[in-house]
Amino acid sequence: MRRTPRAFFQPLSLGAPAPPPQIPVTPSRMIHFFDPSNPRMAAKVPTIVKQVDILLGNLEDAIDAERKVDAREGLIKIARDTDFAGTPLWTRVNSLDSPWFLDDMLRLVGEIGNDLHCVMIPKVTGPWDIHFVDQLLAQLEAKHGIRQALLIHAILETAEGVNNVEEICAASPRVQGISLGPADLAASRRMKTTRVGGGHPGYVVRADMDDDAPDRERPGYQQDLWHYTLAKMVDACNAHGVLPFYGPFGHIADPVACEDQFRNAFLMGCVGAWSLHPSQIEIAKRVFSPPVDEVKFAMRVIEAMGDGTGTVMVDGRMQDDATFKQCQVMVQLARMLSTRDADLAEAYGITG
Ligand code: GLV
Ligand code: MG
Repeated sequence: MRRTPRAFFQPLSLGAPAPPPQIPVTPSRMIHFFDPSNPRMAAKVPTIVKQVDILLGNLEDAIDAERKVDAREGLIKIARDTDFAGTPLWTRVNSLDSPWFLDDMLRLVGEIGNDLHCVMIPKVTGPWDIHFVDQLLAQLEAKHGIRQALLIHAILETAEGVNNVEEICAASPRVQGISLGPADLAASRRMKTTRVGGGHPGYVVRADMDDDAPDRERPGYQQDLWHYTLAKMVDACNAHGVLPFYGPFGHIADPVACEDQFRNAFLMGCVGAWSLHPSQIEIAKRVFSPPVDEVKFAMRVIEAMGDGTGTVMVDGRMQDDATFKQCQVMVQLARMLSTRDADLAEAYGITG
């Protein structure tokens, strides 16, 4: 059962701000994770905040149990002491069934609710998780006089969550986006892997056997383990005006495979990925900014198509309403990114 359309956009608590009718589309090429309990990482925040589209203080997995409270309190201090210059600050709180979730929410919304844009919720299993967080946020926003409704970002990392991804997208107007969480999802699905994202050399399709030489060696072609889930997630997100993201790539020493994983997600419709290490920031920036030659081609198509109806040829390629719309997606993204990235604006030839 769903709320009625009229009720859907009403605040869930008296005095809470109304949730947004549309999810704002802002530069989101990478969500950069840092550990707020780590003084070395905390010291780098003022520098790193200038290099990333979204900065996220991580409280969940990868933070030792005995440092959970330090991470939470560290994030509060960093939020207060840092000039974010427009870069959105997010957090990933602990999971709903953990001993830390409730205090994460109470402390963070109470102390820095006006500085936080979005709360990432891990291990979401269905719309019930979103409803719970939605109501809790509304209560806390009302209590603490928060001016703008916080958004919710769900991680798709349980088999149950994948089954329910459409319902998760539709559960609240606060649902900003969904990230694929390949590590937890692999465990939840009982996949036989030990990785954080990426392919696997064992997941192949073998070239046909030659009947006349059955013993001849045949190449195996590695397949994409994540294709099905990513495609399902992208469709669910875009059908609901929610932004899809690829999540983490754990083999930090392999930038080539990281770039491939990110680019597959970009081509399939994702807006960004997580960066777990500073070296992945540049990879995400490169991959999730549309290529200059494609943007310039798309501009030519839009120009040649005029009002978007009919058909024209550009460089021997047929253009019609559908390619016009694809080109608009590309150029709109280039324009939006150019508002925050002067080098890109110059490369695309976008001014003003
Ligand atoms: C991310 O949280 C993952 O589990 O991949
Ligand atoms: Mg996870």
